[in-house]
Amino acid sequence: MDGEIITSLPMFPDPAEPITISSAGHKDIKAVDMLPACASPCLDSSAISISSSSSDEHCCDHPDCNSWGPATFEESGAVDELLDAPDVLKLPPHYDTEQLVRELAACTTTDNAFYVVDLSTVVSKLNDWKKELPRIKPLYAMKCNGDAKICRLLAKAGVGFDCASKAEIAQALSLRVRPDNLIYANPCKQANMLRYARQVGVLKMTADNVEELHKIRDIFPEARVVLRIAVDDSKSVCRFNSKFGCPPQEWDAMFSTARELGLNMHGVSFHVGSGCGDLKPFADAVSAARDAFDLAKSYGFSPTLLDVGGGWPGHDDGDFTFKDVAAVVADAVDHYFPASSGVEIIAEPGRYFAHASHTYAVTVIAKRPLSCAQLADTAEIESFGARPTKDTEETISSSSHADDGFKKAEASENQPEVALYINDGVYGSFNCVVFDHAHVRPMVLERRSGARTVATKLFGPTCDSIDVVMPCTRLPEMRVGEWLWFRGMGAYTRCAASRFNGQGEFDIHYVWAGMP
Ligand SMILES: Cc1ncc(COP(=O)(O)O)c(C=O)c1O
Repeated sequence: MDGEIITSLPMFPDPAEPITISSAGHKDIKAVDMLPACASPCLDSSAISISSSSSDEHCCDHPDCNSWGPATFEESGAVDELLDAPDVLKLPPHYDTEQLVRELAACTTTDNAFYVVDLSTVVSKLNDWKKELPRIKPLYAMKCNGDAKICRLLAKAGVGFDCASKAEIAQALSLRVRPDNLIYANPCKQANMLRYARQVGVLKMTADNVEELHKIRDIFPEARVVLRIAVDDSKSVCRFNSKFGCPPQEWDAMFSTARELGLNMHGVSFHVGSGCGDLKPFADAVSAARDAFDLAKSYGFSPTLLDVGGGWPGHDDGDFTFKDVAAVVADAVDHYFPASSGVEIIAEPGRYFAHASHTYAVTVIAKRPLSCAQLADTAEIESFGARPTKDTEETISSSSHADDGFKKAEASENQPEVALYINDGVYGSFNCVVFDHAHVRPMVLERRSGARTVATKLFGPTCDSIDVVMPCTRLPEMRVGEWLWFRGMGAYTRCAASRFNGQGEFDIHYVWAGMP
């Protein structure tokens, strides 16, 4: 990108505009030495007491007390830092994303794909979180998008991190996040990573099987073990129970083994699955966690941590909004874990923070009409990977796709006429189509009058025929060199992208918009 676009766009008008995150007041607090609003730590050292190299300090006496993070973004210094950063484009609130993408596309010197990363969306999300869930401290699931600027912003704001590996722990620590603001939330840990967690004092970690407890006892006996329980994930797009979560019939074995091994059972966690399509599993999971707490107590433990996991929606376009989920969880938490219980509550939101932050623009690098022979060959290939979107089903009328998106395309009226090859695909950021079951929505930047609508197949740029971003979608007829853009590309996209075939390169333009 050259400098022109930055100066031609209006600057963020008032850097001092309040971006308030309601909380008890903290003045001049730095990320490394944030202290709780209430001075009295109330963690029980647990029935089986284990020495710890870092402290958990939090308030649990006052339901309205946000004992984490600076009171406002101004105090965190995060806004000043962003406003000073030369590589962050300053925009007014409510800027026109499409217009911005158009201008960036017009002045790019390459035809590389590019992301627009709007950091102010992350702050908005944090504001909403603090408002709706004052008792629950978020630990960002950085696996979902480890973008350095997003992580730094969240770290400065006092958010903790859910880390799945040594590399993620190291990244979080490099942001000067305290080890006690991290959870090693991978129930199956590699031994040397567990050793590293011990070295750097990351005590909190999840476990969901007896074998793991032995490993923890051997390598990190002082760990604060959080039992990850299996909960109803049947309403979620990405389900985890087949791999993780301790079913209720195994809880006894976990607690008795932990007692034998002298481990500290510090709390209970769950994950309802990513992209949960119902509210009830959230409430039911909190209730199940209460049962697990009670059972833990019967084994002599004094658990003090409830981790309500991830699965928080990244947008409000579904059947319910973030506020709806927050209300259900807050009610359940207040019911089963009232403030008087002294239980610290954390969550592991990933998608919630990252989804809206990224807009992605790609170019059409090639185009061809599809022959009958090519169409006949697609069925087997598409039994894996990209599925027809709702849009396809609705607008192109597909009886064959409606009941099973993974089934082959059979109906001739559902077949694409033309293939566009774009410069990122399922081996790159559009891996979300395969792994995250994402329904991506392409939008055209250039609208030529009179362009007819065409049933279009979107291929990625690699030499693999499985690299299909969309098997069939309706788009205005496009030319090579024109741009498509996609909103909501922040979660489970870049982080899992490969450079297979030397493809998948993209540029990034960071944006900071004045908060509405
Ligand atoms: C242990 C754990 N916590 C949190 C998350 C984040 O989930 P989400 O992005 O749905 O909030 C994941 C996602 O895979 C996870 O595995």
